[in-house]
Amino acid sequence: MDRYVTGAVIRRLREAKKMTQEELAERIFVSSKAVSKWETGQGFPDISLLEPLARSLDISVIELLSGEDIRNRNQSSNMLKTQFYVCPVCGNVIQSVGEALVSCCGITLPPLEPEALDPDHTIRVEVVEDEYFVSLDHPMEKDHYISFLAAVSDQQLQFIKLYPEGNAEARFKICCVKKLYACCNRHGLFQLSRLPALR
Ligand SMILES: [Fe+2]
Repeated sequence: MDRYVTGAVIRRLREAKKMTQEELAERIFVSSKAVSKWETGQGFPDISLLEPLARSLDISVIELLSGEDIRNRNQSSNMLKTQFYVCPVCGNVIQSVGEALVSCCGITLPPLEPEALDPDHTIRVEVVEDEYFVSLDHPMEKDHYISFLAAVSDQQLQFIKLYPEGNAEARFKICCVKKLYACCNRHGLFQLSRLPALR
């Protein structure tokens, strides 16, 4: 069995916290010998210790398991950098406005990378008064459909969840919208950046 958490990761994170093996051991109620064993690859922590271990290292369990101390850094978030994450297990859609480590159903989710528009996923936009009417000629069947449409401006995300048997269309307030997204459950995320000007 692969080690689910490596000794090198534990050591690196412990040293970054300027903690001795004894101090870490004390925090999670194990012997310093146990910590030493983990760090030298002679054993690995019981799964029940993952949470206290992660907490002591000031990191999430996901970060501990992935071996990357990626922080959710959203202090200088920018709506135009909005990223979408879709869980392949439960269909959950998660959105972040900065770099984030996102997990759902026990899986670390990569952000969806927008694909270039193709003839099967062309996003049509019409201006209707102060709204964009957005639509796609795309199947809306249980196993292949547009699962959401979204419009992003500097300050706002308008998000509309779609369902099979519905229409692949939505209306968005135009105000400052700079990007439109359509997500196909089979073919991924599509982005339209060039939007029709207001008349
Ligand atoms: Fe599709």
